[in-house]
Amino acid sequence: MQQQWWHGKTAYQIYPKSFYDSNGDGIGDIKGIIAKLPYLHALGIEILWISPIYKSPFVDNGYDIADYQAIDPTFGTMEDFDELLARAKELGIAIIMDLVVNHCSSEHEWFKRACANPHGEEASYFYFREGVDGHAPNNLRANFGGSVWDKVPGQDNLYYCHFFAKEQPDLNWFNPKLRQKIYQMINWWLDKGVAGFRIDAIMSIGKDPTFPNYTPDALGDGMCACGAMNAQCNDVATRFLQEMQATVFRPRRAFTVGEVFSLQEDNLADFIGDEGNFSTIFDFGPRQCVCNHCAYYAYDKLTIAQYRAALFKSQRQAAHCGFIAPVIENHDEPRGVSCYLPPMWHNAAGAKALGTIIMLLRGIPFIYQGQELGMLNVQFNSIDEFNDLQSVEEYRRCLQHGLSKTEALAVLNAQARDHARTPMPWTGGAQAGFTLGQPWMRLQQDYPQVNVAAQDKDPNSVLQHYRRLVALKKEPSLQQLLTYGSCEEVDTPYEAVICYRRTLDSQILYVAANFGEWDATLHLPGARTMSLSTGKVQLQGDKLHLDPGSSAVIVG
Ligand code: GLC
Ligand code: CA
Repeated sequence: MQQQWWHGKTAYQIYPKSFYDSNGDGIGDIKGIIAKLPYLHALGIEILWISPIYKSPFVDNGYDIADYQAIDPTFGTMEDFDELLARAKELGIAIIMDLVVNHCSSEHEWFKRACANPHGEEASYFYFREGVDGHAPNNLRANFGGSVWDKVPGQDNLYYCHFFAKEQPDLNWFNPKLRQKIYQMINWWLDKGVAGFRIDAIMSIGKDPTFPNYTPDALGDGMCACGAMNAQCNDVATRFLQEMQATVFRPRRAFTVGEVFSLQEDNLADFIGDEGNFSTIFDFGPRQCVCNHCAYYAYDKLTIAQYRAALFKSQRQAAHCGFIAPVIENHDEPRGVSCYLPPMWHNAAGAKALGTIIMLLRGIPFIYQGQELGMLNVQFNSIDEFNDLQSVEEYRRCLQHGLSKTEALAVLNAQARDHARTPMPWTGGAQAGFTLGQPWMRLQQDYPQVNVAAQDKDPNSVLQHYRRLVALKKEPSLQQLLTYGSCEEVDTPYEAVICYRRTLDSQILYVAANFGEWDATLHLPGARTMSLSTGKVQLQGDKLHLDPGSSAVIVG
């Protein structure tokens, strides 16, 4: 494997609307991020992914972009952004932006011009298709519900395609002119000093331009989730992604992390190898075990054994071709501690132990804002408290499926994207110190206890543990091992214990956590010194005793 500047680094994701509000309008902004750079620096992170801050009507909270080269005034100005880049650089933090190019916003100039002239240049940037027998061109269902087709305004039988909301028209990657425009835009950001991109929903560009009908799926509306087309067109996407890599990213040594679901075991190297489509991709293995159905209501609750199996499956697949990016959660998911751990560990002990496991896996870990505090899911009391358009659609699907309103609320309380989008709790005071005004979204209920100020003072807090984990990865004696060393699951007789070893040449390091109700004793050949632990643990010779809810890192 070729060595790259991002190897061994820890990344952090900011959801800007909810990070820190500098001007009291209740919405996080760029100046707010600048103000908190010292916090991020103290955490030790070296790559910062900022979810979209471009000009947007915010139908999908910024993932609907009206101008790729402008900052939305809600977040500040381009000068603010330049300052952020410069200040971050001083602290050794590389900034990566969100590249949302499967679709743009219906407010983008391209789409407006396309609608005004459906046979002009810009129309060819989109998928405009005639309807068939008075119906949409095919039966694909959009990710946020309804058909992927809507009529081009003012047209009787002409439709445009959108795999997400109707305000997010899909871009036609088959058009080389459009691809050139996208590459120019990317280069413009790289010229500014951005270090790379997180690439949004990108497998959706893999399309069959004939748009055939698909066998209806389990939702029972005669439609089929649009992902079915993407799953069959991976090679189309790869063709475009390879061109983009070769044209813009590889020559600039830019770091890219792809949002890719449904990995094929046999072609992971095409995605994360030296010549792959991306530098790395997120590991959504565990998430997909929970939510791989046509609707939230069909979600599966995982046991620790199932969670562990998903984690190590991804590790095994990546072992020989490149790095994946381990995550516990992101802005599209419920909080990982609530989602993956049994209820008895929905607390600081559970959050610390889960952090120990995920942060030291092989790969480029991403911490999602609030994860380092051990934030849990929100207890939403009514559908009105949700903001996300997908929550509204999933609630509708629940009711349609025959669930009561109470049951539907319970489903959202387990799965909604809103859980991760509440304001970051900086203090236990008014509005959690996030804003001097009214926050755009409600706060998570635990903020009086779970907040940065409180955890900063407490040597045993989740935050301090995350700081130690990130620091451990940088320790000169461990850096090579934790970056390039292999990662193998260690089998134990315990259902709820997760244990693995990292090895490089003669070096060895064990990581273990006990999410069960009972003590566990593990035999770890070659184990010598405890370098980090949470909860009650004891090392006697090469035997490690783990109390319930504890975790340990041991070097040999
Ligand atoms: C990605 C984003 C998500 C967004 C979607 C459409 O999945 O992470 O937030 O809604 O793409 O852009
Ligand atoms: Ca603001």
